[in-house]
Amino acid sequence: MKNLIAAVALALMSHAAMAEDAPKWSLAIHGGAGTLDPKAMTPEKRAAYEADLQAALDAGSKILADGGDAMDAIKAAIIIMEDSPLFNAGKGAVFTWDGTNELDASIMDGRDRSAGAVAGVKTVKNPILLADTVRTQSEHVMLMGAGAEAFALEKGFAVTPPEYFATPARREALERMKAKKLSALDVDHKFGTVGAVALDMKGNLAAGTSTGGMTGKRWGRVGDAPVIGAGTYADNRACAVSATGWGEYFLRVGVAHEICARLRAARAMNWLSFDNKGAPIAPEAEDIAQTVQDVADAVMYDVAELGGDGGVILVTPEGHAIFSFNTTGMYRGRATSAGVNEVAIFGGEEKASATPDH
Ligand code: GLY
Repeated sequence: MKNLIAAVALALMSHAAMAEDAPKWSLAIHGGAGTLDPKAMTPEKRAAYEADLQAALDAGSKILADGGDAMDAIKAAIIIMEDSPLFNAGKGAVFTWDGTNELDASIMDGRDRSAGAVAGVKTVKNPILLADTVRTQSEHVMLMGAGAEAFALEKGFAVTPPEYFATPARREALERMKAKKLSALDVDHKFGTVGAVALDMKGNLAAGTSTGGMTGKRWGRVGDAPVIGAGTYADNRACAVSATGWGEYFLRVGVAHEICARLRAARAMNWLSFDNKGAPIAPEAEDIAQTVQDVADAVMYDVAELGGDGGVILVTPEGHAIFSFNTTGMYRGRATSAGVNEVAIFGGEEKASATPDH
């Protein structure tokens, strides 16, 4: 018992020491995960993706570095990716079987776990902003279809014509799918959902996700992106998560909440681990970073075991900015006040350590 109390005290001290070193802010973004082929990625294509990811990262980072809110930072980053035709969200969203673009988005504030989401909207340029308006100006968490659009009109959102969202590449993917009787995975290769997670200088976490779903979706299909707990979750006590991938599997695992719940439990135990004689050991910052990575990887492993693929980004109250994906690539980026600033596409391209004080 004495041992345990001493270890808890030690862990708390190491926690406090780490908090001094930890980054004041942290941001991670994704633009979709999937089967990305390095040979099919021309230097021009790569440069275009990297430029838009960097623009999104810079927009969010500037807000955080200026002392702004995590919620504002993730919205700024996501809007840039929704406006880019390269990603499957907002402009450039995939087509449904019926040749429309139906958009889903969700957002969550880790301070009070307030959340907003929309599904199947067709005329809102930036669905992430509508999701946030559901959060702040309604009594609800999720609105769908025509009702969500009526709400948008009432709240002063402009009606964006359907042609705005349509791009030739996405139309061609639908036509190929129909002509060759392919599955969405055959034509999408990557999922292209966008998302952002942030820790601000006040210690608040936020998460948001936006998508067009999957090519050829029918019957009002909705994936994980607008579902709080599956595609998006934020809780100041644990972490902020945004997911991308084959939504049906992320829904079944409840990926975003599952990661936060496991991290909350680990933190509640002060990340204690035990030596080979059973005595508790206070963890080093590196060990905590590894635990965070292990938790994300374990939940993604669960997704893979069921047959699903994709990835997640997360940030923690300590400032870890972590990626985990079981695909060949994930369009992604991260930046922290400790000087990390990088975008990457294929596996293993990160240069920075996930440990906050490195
Ligand atoms: N992850 C996005 C979707 O499945 O719709």
